[in-house]
Amino acid sequence: MTNNHNEQISKANTYIDRQQEIVKDSKYRFNYHMMPPVGWMNDPNGLIQYNGEYHLFYQHHPYAPEWGPMHWGHAKSRDLVNWEHLPIALAPSEYYDIGTIDDHGCFSGSAIEKDDELYLFYTGHSIEREPMQVQCVAKSRDGIHFVKEAKNPVIDHFPKDGSKDFRDPKVWQCGSQYYIVVGSKKDGKGKALLYQSSNLIEWDYRGVVAESNGEQGDMWECPDLFPLGKEHALILSPMYGEKNEKPIIIFGEMDYNVAKFYQERSMLLDYGHDFYAPQTLKDDKGRRIMMGWMDMWFSKRPSENDGWVGAMTIPRELTYNQNGIFVQQPVEELKTLRKNHHCIESFEIYGERSFPKLEGIGTEICIEFDMINSDSPVFGLNLRCSKDRSEKTVVKINKNAEEIIVDLTSAGEGESGIYKAPYKSTIDGKLNLRIFLDTTSIEIFVNHGEQVITNRIYPNTTSKEVDLFAEKGKARVLKADKWSLKSVW
Ligand code: FRU
Repeated sequence: MTNNHNEQISKANTYIDRQQEIVKDSKYRFNYHMMPPVGWMNDPNGLIQYNGEYHLFYQHHPYAPEWGPMHWGHAKSRDLVNWEHLPIALAPSEYYDIGTIDDHGCFSGSAIEKDDELYLFYTGHSIEREPMQVQCVAKSRDGIHFVKEAKNPVIDHFPKDGSKDFRDPKVWQCGSQYYIVVGSKKDGKGKALLYQSSNLIEWDYRGVVAESNGEQGDMWECPDLFPLGKEHALILSPMYGEKNEKPIIIFGEMDYNVAKFYQERSMLLDYGHDFYAPQTLKDDKGRRIMMGWMDMWFSKRPSENDGWVGAMTIPRELTYNQNGIFVQQPVEELKTLRKNHHCIESFEIYGERSFPKLEGIGTEICIEFDMINSDSPVFGLNLRCSKDRSEKTVVKINKNAEEIIVDLTSAGEGESGIYKAPYKSTIDGKLNLRIFLDTTSIEIFVNHGEQVITNRIYPNTTSKEVDLFAEKGKARVLKADKWSLKSVW
């Protein structure tokens, strides 16, 4: 068994080594985002800190820049910013994760440490098999080489409340017990199914811990349930029929005695197009950190011509602000990438004006508007502009609608579309946008993380100018900061 797994892994690693030269010169490669060495990447998997280092695994098809038999790619980092690619962690090799057609493999899952060993939980998937999806374990002592558990599949059939779509185990410990939630569907409702174990190998089914309220999708992918502040949070990626929709976070109370999570309120985690299957970990600083797949199913992906596809968002810390509002903030460590600071303070914009000091491709822009003294109904920034402005990524504030609008109509290759996020006016009348640009992405944190908007954009590499504009009136800027961000690759 192990031999076959090892053979599949070394075959994939050899292939990746050979392909690296080809990918290297791709103009779409990121400066500071995590991306696959070659081939295809989707969901983050197995986020964990192990022996002091952060580990990120991910859904990976090394052999082509398109989805295929799923492997687990692997990278590690000391600071969540500088990543080092490691050998493939999991490859399809056993009856429960292979098939004769391509729709098979080691699907999404998570990681936990027990007695110095690193355990990966994943879904063994094969479209031809009955049941199609089962839950499996692989273990490692060095955090690099993984052996699939002899007792796999450790959960060999979906329970009565689930169906053949039964995947993406997220594992955690509470007291002396271990738990996993698995995503599933039944009777038109997405569900999170809870299992309990005292040894990580033998699992008892506890029941439906949470399910769709009727408006949260008919299939739940990648559920993640964890304590946050004084409450619990459940993150999930919903499907409506065949369509994947924007991930949500549900806040509520968890009662382990009756195995129930009681929903209280929910919101979208991200209003952009390219954010899916997020997963969290808790680190040794006590932070709850989340990364998501920065791409989406059925998207245009210009980088496939260069032999690779997919990326991860920057890591975000999940917390509450001083008013008790849930916020997502880029992890503090990202500030170590900052160089070449420019700051422009207190000015007004009428019409449209270019700002050479703010321009760049791998940059962070932090801009604060004075909403009380801005009478323009629509103002904002054009980013990644070409000289002739035929290309631009527009970020605008619609004051009356209280919306941030990202307009990708002229953003270049890739998905077009207009994406809107609501914002709430603050008592001090300030609106803050913290924007991370990289070669092919834009992530916007509104009002210190109250809302986030993430999109892949594919402008020309020469499109890097920035305009500020105000339609019909003036916009007042309190402060605009810009840093170039160092490349980590
Ligand atoms: C989510 C997902 C998971 C599945 C994986 C397959 O994007 O569909 O449910 O495990 O991707 O690659």
